[in-house]
Amino acid sequence: MSMEFFIDSADIEAIRELCDFLPIDGVTTNPTIITKSGKEPEQVFAELAEVLTEDQKIIAQVVSLDYNGILAEAERIAQIRGGKNIVVKIPVTREGLRAIPAVKAKGISVLATGIYSPDQAFWAAKAGADYLAPYVNRMCNYGDGVGQVMELVNTLAQYGMDAKVCAASFKNVDQVHQLLAAGVPSITVNPDTIRDMVGHPGTAIAMEEFTANWQKAYGRTTL
Ligand code: E4P
Repeated sequence: MSMEFFIDSADIEAIRELCDFLPIDGVTTNPTIITKSGKEPEQVFAELAEVLTEDQKIIAQVVSLDYNGILAEAERIAQIRGGKNIVVKIPVTREGLRAIPAVKAKGISVLATGIYSPDQAFWAAKAGADYLAPYVNRMCNYGDGVGQVMELVNTLAQYGMDAKVCAASFKNVDQVHQLLAAGVPSITVNPDTIRDMVGHPGTAIAMEEFTANWQKAYGRTTL
């Protein structure tokens, strides 16, 4: 199973910008992220389908919280882009946990979301979720969010459970760094934090130094 890196956003321009130079594996959204786009959800899904290739996953969340509503919305989401590489996010509430096996039985991939503890994640894995999204930064409000997610990865490995942790909710590069260093199998990160991961002022300074020295020696800025 390969490591996957998703963008946590519905900002189409940011997604286009990042996909242009980084091997991004897809996009995750949630209801709040969709509202922030200022667009209708159908338009956001259509634009995501346009800006992403079919190999890049679109991971979108149900809004209804009752079992029947979750099932109906999961089927709607699964129709985006003809169902190619679509994953439906379902919250780890009682209704959500009951819905996960039913949605899976329809052949739809599921990401269990709204996870604040390894124990909720364990039950979502047992219910058959493909991905588990612990909210790392939000978990940090209650304790060692990063440590608990690392523990979850180990628990799943010990039981040979197939569910893949998709670490979510990040506020800074250090949180992302710690989970990547611990070998988290997938992760979803907002555009600003991804930009901060890539850009370092030291790199720009080094390149300026090389160019200046080359210019001084050879009177040009190319090889
Ligand atoms: C991911 O799937 C979640 O929707 C998201 O990462 C939550 O992030 P937040 O804590 O920044 O809202």
